[in-house]
Amino acid sequence: MTSAVRYDGHADWYDATFRRYGGASADLLARLLGPADPADPVCLDIGCGTGLHAAAVSARGHTVIGVDLSADQLRVAATRNPRLVRADAGRLPFADASVPSVVMTYLHTDVEDFPRVIATAARVLRPGGRLVHLGLHPAYVGPFLDRQDEVERHELRLAAGYGDERHAVDPTGRFPVRSRVGARNLTLATFLRAFLAQPSLRLDDVVEVDTGMRPWQPPAGDGRVVPWNLAVTAVAVPV
Ligand SMILES: C[S@@+](CC[C@H](N)C(=O)[O-])C[C@H]1O[C@@H](n2cnc3c(N)ncnc32)[C@H](O)[C@@H]1O
Repeated sequence: MTSAVRYDGHADWYDATFRRYGGASADLLARLLGPADPADPVCLDIGCGTGLHAAAVSARGHTVIGVDLSADQLRVAATRNPRLVRADAGRLPFADASVPSVVMTYLHTDVEDFPRVIATAARVLRPGGRLVHLGLHPAYVGPFLDRQDEVERHELRLAAGYGDERHAVDPTGRFPVRSRVGARNLTLATFLRAFLAQPSLRLDDVVEVDTGMRPWQPPAGDGRVVPWNLAVTAVAVPV
């Protein structure tokens, strides 16, 4: 099954579910990306989904081009941003060193080959360009963690591949998107090595946060702060 098939048929549900939670996430993304260069404002939003982060990035002066494999996700994204390309994140139809900015949100959990996606983003970024990936924290949240009763039983599934077996993917029912589309599990090291493997990328920052972009809330008032999200920023350097 390809990633395109996974989200096709779920776009209206995805958008209705996550648009209620996306504000802080989009604001953080825009802050980490920074303002556009007015002379070259293009920003690829790779794996843009329904375009939930486009407005906040546009507000910093960027001309957002959304890229996604799912025609259904792009159908909804078109209601927010007309500049869309249906393409595989691992085979982007953009020239080498041609774009100044790339953002990706909640993507590593959803692509077959994350290292290839980062390598492709590195290929299209021009020297001095900026990349931000904001997604789930590989160490603290994901379908491989069972948070039932808020006991963290780490059940790391190190093997590559999607968990298409629904019960295994979502035993608690707290990850409804994963029950629909499955998930790709990456460990923290595997995730970070995708960036470190690129000679033309220099890691700029790593940020642990809670954007609140999830369809459930942890129990209130227990005082624990869990960094549900991890953001990585990188700068393209000449090689
Ligand atoms: C969890 S959604 C995130 C969507 C959006 N970035 C957001 O923050 O709401 C993951 C998205 O990645 C897209 N996707 C998965 N594999 C892809 C690939 N190989 N190339 C492009 N998009 C892909 C899916 O269609 C889906 O829209």
